[in-house]
Amino acid sequence: MTPSTAVASCVLLGLSGFAVAADRHTLTIASTCMSCHGPDGRSLGEIPRLTGLSKAEFVRAMHDFRSGSRRATIMRRQASGYTDAEIDALGDYFGNLK
Ligand code: HEC
Repeated sequence: MTPSTAVASCVLLGLSGFAVAADRHTLTIASTCMSCHGPDGRSLGEIPRLTGLSKAEFVRAMHDFRSGSRRATIMRRQASGYTDAEIDALGDYFGNLK
């Protein structure tokens, strides 16, 4: 392998890794959720865990909180700050945590 192909493969590997992991914007939002929902969404207390929900369940819950059709003490305010695209990306993130 010539040095230039080695560099090209590193760049390609770097890009493919980036495509799989959540982007920084999504990780930043997700970290704000963890103050209540626990590290990686694994709450140990009264607040529901975010792990174990499918992406579809997660996205539905966020839309229902945002529209007010699901009663909530906290989550209506939380959900109202995010766009459909952000909720979708958060659903990919939390929906893939085991
Ligand atoms: C201040 C604490 C707090 C923060 C911050 C918070 N949540 Fe919540 N979350 C709750 C509580 C409490 C509930 C139960 C519903 C309610 O009363 O609002 C809940 C419920 C949920 C549910 C429903 C879970 C289920 O099993 O049905 C989802 C999904 C959720 N939160 C996602 C998020 C996301 C995503 C964020 C970050 C953008 C977030 N939460 C930030 C407190 C919080």
